[in-house]
Amino acid sequence: MTDRELMTMAKEASLRSYCPYSRFAVGAALECDDGTVYTGCNIENAALGDTICAERVACVKAVSEGHRSFARIAIYADSQNWCTPCGSCRQFLAEFSPKMEVLCAKTGDRYVSYTLDKMMPYTFNY
Ligand code: THU
Repeated sequence: MTDRELMTMAKEASLRSYCPYSRFAVGAALECDDGTVYTGCNIENAALGDTICAERVACVKAVSEGHRSFARIAIYADSQNWCTPCGSCRQFLAEFSPKMEVLCAKTGDRYVSYTLDKMMPYTFNY
């Protein structure tokens, strides 16, 4: 699967976002090492702190289906800014694959690419 195809899946996932509070829809597509892809969208809650980000939704779907090793994640939001993962999502993803590639998009067709360990060095661990 190309980066562009993975990002298209993230964009489609953003259409399923439940975000009545922020009205900021995010979609993610997480590619496992074996090529399986899990998508996620942000799911908000009236208790705002209970909101779950798109990246973590994709990750819990994958892990709960037996996948723990990831190659790439694409993240899309119809935004002026690159949709980079929040700190909690970086820590959460780094638990499984700190060297994975992170593709971050915004409105339009362009995206930027980082490795997770560059975005999130010195993650918590014990
Ligand atoms: N959000 C994500 O889904 N991923 C991130 O990495 C950052 C933020 C969501 C959470 C909330 O529903 C909305 O974006 C605004 O913060």
